[in-house]
Amino acid sequence: MHKLLSGPLSVERLNVRIADLPKSLSGTKIVHLSDLHYDGLRLSEQMLADAIAITNESEPDLIVLTGDYVTDDPSPIYHLVRRLKYLEARVGVFAVLGNHDIYYKHSQSIITQALTSIGIQVLWNQIAYPFGEQLPIVGLADYWSREFRPAPVMEQLSDRTPRIVLSHNPDTAEILSKWRVDLQLSGHTHGGQFVLPGFGPIVLYYHQFTRQLPKKVRARIPCLRVNSSKVVRHWEWAQGFHRIGKNQLYVNRGLGTYPPGRFFCTPEVTVITLT
Ligand SMILES: [Fe+2]
Repeated sequence: MHKLLSGPLSVERLNVRIADLPKSLSGTKIVHLSDLHYDGLRLSEQMLADAIAITNESEPDLIVLTGDYVTDDPSPIYHLVRRLKYLEARVGVFAVLGNHDIYYKHSQSIITQALTSIGIQVLWNQIAYPFGEQLPIVGLADYWSREFRPAPVMEQLSDRTPRIVLSHNPDTAEILSKWRVDLQLSGHTHGGQFVLPGFGPIVLYYHQFTRQLPKKVRARIPCLRVNSSKVVRHWEWAQGFHRIGKNQLYVNRGLGTYPPGRFFCTPEVTVITLT
């Protein structure tokens, strides 16, 4: 049933050019997973097992997780970490939190402790150096938390140092364009979930259409009262690779599926090779 709504799991493979990447790190393989929404409804055990198997078969140097492990109640994280503990990467697994991981006051500490208990390093406005000084991994607080403050973190790094930034919400790419971001990895959008092949997420057109309607008309039609710009402003970055000035952004479509399902927007495991 779940697979019927979500579609099959896809593996996206891409090479990303990183300026000033040390020769010794050329060919570094990163697997990116996002938006699991593990709550017994939005992600099946089978799809999770397949995603973990594909990740490990890729023999990644690094695994990154970009948030929304649960949906509202944080307690499913205790079951989820029993699955995620099988993830294997040469230099480790690094994670940031999403808006759903801070849904309740107590959520953040529960999710962080559970992930940490299986050796996953959770970055909240922190920099990690799993590859040494030459390629830092920056993990930011969720954009919707009160602690999203990239400046003190980004300014610790020299402009000459390439870096990878983990930030759940792709809207942050606009703010982060003030700094060098060789590769930002995000999720949050589920790819828009409903996509018109060749055109992109339906929500993009919905936005353009509703903006043209007078406010009075919008207020009278219940489904038009939903403000999709509250989810994300930059729906044009809902999935895939984007250049924002000199910076590069990749948005993962996520593994979890919200009702009523996905349409031409399959769940995703991303395998990125740095060149
Ligand atoms: Fe999210």
